[in-house]
Amino acid sequence: MDEPEGEAHMSSMSGSRSFWSSGQKLLLLFVATLTLQYRSTVYGSVPSGSISMTQPDCPDKCGDVSIPYPFGTGVGCFQGAFNVTCNKTGAYLASTDVRVLEINLSLGEVRVQNPYISWNCNYTNGTRSSSGLNILSLDAFHKVSINKNKFTYIGCSELAMMVGGGIGSNEDYLTINSCFSYCTNASNFNDKDDKECRGKGCCQTSFAGNISGFYTVATPLLGIYNSDVQSFCPCSYSFVVEEEWFTFSRSYVNSSTNFASRNKDGVPLVLDWIVGNERCSDAINMGPQYLCQAKNSSCVDVSNGPGYRCNCSSGYEGNPYLKDGCRDIDECHPQNNPLYPCNGISASIVFLMVCIFALHAEYQKRKLAKEKDRFFDQNGGQILYHQIMSKQVDTLKIYTQEDLKKATNDFGESTELGNY
Ligand SMILES: *[C@@H]1O[C@H](CO)[C@@H](O)[C@H](O)[C@H]1NC(C)=O
Ligand SMILES: *[C@@H]1O[C@H](CO)[C@@H](O)[C@H](O)[C@H]1NC(C)=O
Ligand SMILES: *[C@@H]1O[C@H](CO)[C@@H](O)[C@H](O)[C@H]1NC(C)=O
Ligand SMILES: *[C@@H]1O[C@H](CO)[C@@H](O)[C@H](O)[C@H]1NC(C)=O
Ligand SMILES: *[C@@H]1O[C@H](CO)[C@@H](O)[C@H](O)[C@H]1NC(C)=O
Ligand SMILES: *[C@@H]1O[C@H](CO)[C@@H](O)[C@H](O)[C@H]1NC(C)=O
Ligand SMILES: *[C@@H]1O[C@H](CO)[C@@H](O)[C@H](O)[C@H]1NC(C)=O
Ligand SMILES: *[C@@H]1O[C@H](CO)[C@@H](O)[C@H](O)[C@H]1NC(C)=O
Repeated sequence: MDEPEGEAHMSSMSGSRSFWSSGQKLLLLFVATLTLQYRSTVYGSVPSGSISMTQPDCPDKCGDVSIPYPFGTGVGCFQGAFNVTCNKTGAYLASTDVRVLEINLSLGEVRVQNPYISWNCNYTNGTRSSSGLNILSLDAFHKVSINKNKFTYIGCSELAMMVGGGIGSNEDYLTINSCFSYCTNASNFNDKDDKECRGKGCCQTSFAGNISGFYTVATPLLGIYNSDVQSFCPCSYSFVVEEEWFTFSRSYVNSSTNFASRNKDGVPLVLDWIVGNERCSDAINMGPQYLCQAKNSSCVDVSNGPGYRCNCSSGYEGNPYLKDGCRDIDECHPQNNPLYPCNGISASIVFLMVCIFALHAEYQKRKLAKEKDRFFDQNGGQILYHQIMSKQVDTLKIYTQEDLKKATNDFGESTELGNY
């Protein structure tokens, strides 16, 4: 094909210039779109990072364990009973040997290591040994979760007991729960490799709520416990444990494996915590003593005994115990909204659609300009040119190849039309 000349050539050049200038506009739009996305990404990638979970200048971690306020280590870093001491071994509830594994603000839970497994071994050769009595004692603001834990016993033909107590004005608040494991001989015990803790070599039970301390014991049942039992089941263990963590194994019962020495550090236990003993209806009238400090926070009555804790109101996240601790949830963050694109992204999509539409419009205009060039080349007809120009307004919608063919008396070489 010959190079177009004269005016036609110039108009072609100006057409391509306008194409590129619109390309620049598009580029700008894309940059704007990307910037928008980038900003929303950067903003979203720090869901709670920009919000401090601690008091100013307080460490937010002890080893691997996050320590959000009201928990804290050091002067001015914790509230009331939530003093955490931190050493090389880990984080501990202050003045106890109870190690902190995980603190969950929104559930009002703290996962700890219960160091106390009560055990007792009584061998047929006369050797006896036992752990002695260990009392796990917390304070009135930490309660043993009744939903997440179970009192558990491993052994045979003993009655196992858990004695729980509250700490508070009424010092003699006591609860006793028990379970029994029935296995009188090795053959009925070893019949199958059952991993369930269901009364044969192992028993589990729920226990009463509102307790901040407990101990566990097991005593042989006269008439059922004998040297037969002793021979295949010389040791027994009792403890309170996070139900989800514990799986029973028959090998725990016989002498070759000692459950306590396998779990020297203890077993996981879930505690509920409260920031005040009051009910919410009273707490919210306590002025500065009311501990849900953040705007957009609310009070939650705890079911495990009297007391309350706090949550950020729905639509907010962060730390309800700190002033300005609850922040609007960022819907742009994929963690918060994995299914639907957030406003920022849908805005970018709109931008993109506008871009595509603009590109399409520019393409049609450019196409028209090229047509014009071709008419000048092939027909040199001003009339046709004006005919096309008069149609220009409608071009975007209705200008199809078919119309073009009609308008130009089938000028042929239609394959070159889209050849940009
Ligand atoms: C926190 O508890 C530890 C251990 O009981 C104690 O030494 C420390 O003084 C307590 N910190 C404060 C600020 O009371
Ligand atoms: C850390 O503190 C806990 C609780 O007081 C204690 O049992 C443990 O021995 C301490 N560890 C070290 C390395 O001092
Ligand atoms: C608290 O527990 C909830 C529910 O299991 C979980 O979604 C959340 O990630 C936990 N928070 C922390 C800090 O572990
Ligand atoms: C009795 O048996 C246990 C377990 O087999 C063993 O540890 C202990 O040393 C024995 N005691 C005596 C006095 O033989
Ligand atoms: C909960 O325990 C405390 C002692 O810690 C006791 O004073 C209170 O009466 C108990 N409340 C209920 C509802 O059991
Ligand atoms: C073991 O107990 C079962 C019943 O649970 C009984 O049938 C069986 O005879 C007992 N075996 C021995 C060796 O005592
Ligand atoms: C230990 O076993 C002997 C012999 O069966 C029994 O008399 C005694 O009561 C047992 N003691 C304990 C603490 O289980
Ligand atoms: C302990 O249990 C294992 C597996 O169930 C078994 O192979 C072994 O013989 C048992 N040992 C004793 C001393 O009963």
